[in-house]
Amino acid sequence: MMRLPVSLQSLVIQCLALLLAAWLTPLLQIPFSYLPALWQFALVQGAIAAGLSFLWRQPAWWPPLHVGFLPAILLAQQASLPAWIYLTAFLLLVLFYWSSFRTRVPLYLSDRKAWHAVASLLPETQAFRFIDLGSGLGGVPLYLAPRFLQGRFYGTETAPAPWLISRLRAGFKRSRVQFMRRDYATLDLADFDVVFAFLSPAVMPALWQQAQAQMRSGSLFISLSFAVEARQPEHVLTLAEGARHTLYAWRM
Ligand SMILES: C[S@@+](CC[C@H](N)C(=O)[O-])C[C@H]1O[C@@H](n2cnc3c(N)ncnc32)[C@H](O)[C@@H]1O
Repeated sequence: MMRLPVSLQSLVIQCLALLLAAWLTPLLQIPFSYLPALWQFALVQGAIAAGLSFLWRQPAWWPPLHVGFLPAILLAQQASLPAWIYLTAFLLLVLFYWSSFRTRVPLYLSDRKAWHAVASLLPETQAFRFIDLGSGLGGVPLYLAPRFLQGRFYGTETAPAPWLISRLRAGFKRSRVQFMRRDYATLDLADFDVVFAFLSPAVMPALWQQAQAQMRSGSLFISLSFAVEARQPEHVLTLAEGARHTLYAWRM
């Protein structure tokens, strides 16, 4: 099967299912003299799309999304909402999720338990430079900065809305954290003593290569939830049950 990003796969699947459902409708009409209502058509299209999604081995949450997609459009049409609501929702999604269809890392946030565990790995007295790759709303460095006065904290984020929110939060808190709007792949990780990432399994192999090529010996690479296959971590902190709540750290 083709290796398309999952969002493009889904577009292909929806279009194919639409074509197949449109092709099946007149065929059903011949033996049964039966023309399905729009709702039935939408459900047949959804079932076909879910089947294709399953065959394409998309992640488990995609088939149910495919079933509901066309019915959701029909429902929204019946609600007769003004067009600006759709435009606003679309713009908000773009501003918050930006290029996550390409990076395959959407916005979801770590919590205090994770930040506390990261804090336990940081130098207590020595000066250091810390960066959160994909800093989201800025929670991680904004939590750590007042607790490590000898540290310098940075965050880098590509999506405009989270980046702007983190800048505003830093302003309101009078925090020293600096937030950049840059793709972490364009940074030189040699500039940092501690690199933190909470991204996705899809990007870990490339990020590990970047870390290995750039990070200085003795610096610390920390990943929340996502390990790298290439090397066993020195620290594995379990924050709660399940892989989603594990913090991994490697001394470079
Ligand atoms: C899972 S969120 C983590 C947010 C935050 N670090 C936290 O722990 O709450 C990942 C973030 O990384 C951002 N991101 C994804 N790829 C990126 C890249 N190449 N460069 C910078 N940011 C990126 C996404 O926009 C998203 O906001």
